[in-house]
Order: sequence, then C-alpha cells, then structure tokens
Amino acid sequence: MTKNDLINILSATGDHLNNILNNAQKIKIDNVGNQVFLRGLIEWSNYCSKDCLYCGIHSSNSKIIRYQVSDEEVLNAAQYAFEHHFGSIVVQGGELSSPQHTKIVSQLLRKIKSEFPELGITLSLGEQNKETFLEWREAGAHRYLLRIESSNPDLYYKIHPQNKQHSYEHRIESLYLLKECDYQLGSGVMIGLPFQTIEDLANDLLFFKELDIDMCGMGPYIEHEDTILYQYRHLLLPKNKRFELGLKMVAGLRLLMPDINIAATTAMQSLHPQGRGLAIKYGANVAMPNLTPKKYRNSYILYEDKPGITEDSWESHHQFEEEIAAVNCVIGYDRWGDSKHYQAKKV
Ligand code: 5AD
Repeated sequence: MTKNDLINILSATGDHLNNILNNAQKIKIDNVGNQVFLRGLIEWSNYCSKDCLYCGIHSSNSKIIRYQVSDEEVLNAAQYAFEHHFGSIVVQGGELSSPQHTKIVSQLLRKIKSEFPELGITLSLGEQNKETFLEWREAGAHRYLLRIESSNPDLYYKIHPQNKQHSYEHRIESLYLLKECDYQLGSGVMIGLPFQTIEDLANDLLFFKELDIDMCGMGPYIEHEDTILYQYRHLLLPKNKRFELGLKMVAGLRLLMPDINIAATTAMQSLHPQGRGLAIKYGANVAMPNLTPKKYRNSYILYEDKPGITEDSWESHHQFEEEIAAVNCVIGYDRWGDSKHYQAKKV
C-alpha cells in the first residue's frame, strides 16, 4: 500500500468508507480470526518525569494526587486476571528512570511471575536504557508498549517540550532497543491532534510498517483542561469525526499489517458509546479491561471524560465482554494471545 492508498482510506466517506471497513473486517478474520484476547490493565503509577503537553498526569500538574499501586494490590489484580482466564496483564505507568526504579519493577515482575507463571506480562513504562529493558525482560515481561505519539518530528515537538528529556530521537532509539531486547513491540499514535494532517497519519501507518511493530494501541486525542494543548482545542475535529478518523486508522492498519495485534483503546470508547466494539469489529483483536483498584482510578486521568473511573474490575471486565459479544467476536480465554506477526518472524 502506498501513502496515497492510505490517504484515500483516511479521507473516505459514505459507501467508500463502508467498503473499506468491511474489507478490514474480512482481512482481520482471515488473518487473526474472530478471537479477542484480554489483557488486564493495571495503571500502576502516575508518577512521571515527563511534561507532555497533552497528558493529564504530566509532571508539573500539581492538581493530582500521585500514587503507586502496592505490590499486594498488583498481585490481587493479577489474581483477578488469572481467575477470570485473561491470559495476560499490562503494567502501565508514568515514565521514571533510575536504578532504584528499575529494581522496584524487576522485583514486582518476579513476584507476579512466581505466583502466576501462566500470565503473560506487557509493560508500558516509557523510555529506558538497554540494561533496564533487558533486566525487565529477564524478570518476566515479554511485550512492551511505547507509543511514538506522532512519527512527524515537527509535530512531536509541538506536543512535547523541546528539550533533551523529550527527545524524538531518543524515543525512536528506545523502540529499536526494545526490538533488540526481543520484546514483542507495540507502538501507537494519537489521532486528531491539533496541527496534525491526514498525511501525518498516513505516514504514521507507514512508520509502523517500517518499524515492523507486532502490536498497536492508538486512539483519538482528547483534550484535558490542565494541559498546554488545551488552548488549541478550537483546532480539533468534532468528536464524532475524530472517532471516525480513529476507526479509519484501525481499519487502515489492519489492511496494511494483517497479522499484528491491534488494541481497542479506551479513548475510542470516550468518543462513542460503542467505540471499542466498533474498533474490534473493524480491525482490533485485543481488549484491555481495567483492573486498577478503584481508589486510584480518579488519579490516572489522561484526558477528559475517561470512561471507567467509577467502575470496579468486574464492571470493566463485563462491559468489555458485552461489547465483544455485540460485534459477534469471541474471547480467547487462557491464552497469551501473542502477536502472530511476531511468531511468524521467529520461524
Ligand atoms: N488524549 C488521548 N490519549 C492520551 N494519552 C495521553 N494523553 C492523552 C490525551 N490527552 C495517551 C498517550 C500515551 C498513553 C498512555 O495515553 O498516547 O502514550
């Protein structure tokens, strides 16, 4: 597929769009089947050293209470995932880097692995050096999510502070390091950012292909009052159009990379009551029910109207089960549900 083909997909409307979505649905079923794999999401910590201009938990936001979920609570969430046959969990948090932080995470991973050796573990803890990535891989993580956020360096620096700590080059290096360390690699972008063009999004999809990702999580950008980007909210597409663009990105990526894992993200649900279900129908095959203890959820608000803040694990889990059944897909219980794309590279 060329850049023009992708621009065509992202600009489609009416019958043309319906044909594209139906085609993406067929390609998905032909390549990864009708199954959706569950990963229990633990929003482990909102401490963050970064000051991203879009994110509600950026380090200089003094309005939020900072927390780190205790090991015991993480193990309880892992137990929930195990008992409900999820197969995998995701440990996600803000970006911190220090030898002490590396150790804390390694110890947590070892505890999870010793109690629940069957559970697959994905990490989403930001950019790290090679030693840290290797140590966490050794301790039991085997998949890592690190969104590029935007593959266009100019746009990247419009949504991040322009300094060494927010280096585009370093983020790219980290993505390649993760591959070297033999993680299944996930990346993603935000869709409908201020200043972003359709061509940027087509280039994002080509970037994923070039990087040869195994997994993708992407969703619409949603404004947050306590961020710098909030002042540009008048530049945003209306929410229904932003959602539609998100759906086109999911479908376009499924057509471009038929055998990768694609997540139906929470941000898709924020903008449409059936958002995650529609993402699953037209391309996604991974769902991440939120297992974060309820008392912390209010402090992990990355953008406004984030769904699930008042739910507990059971509610988050069952809502997803309904959404998946509503689009005639089935859950792949008790399976890691690794990316077929990664497996194909290994043979
Ligand atoms: N809107 C949508 N997604 C956001 N994220 C952070 N802030 C926002 C926002 N305002 C996403 C980023 C990050 C992931 C954890 O959450 O893409 O990688």
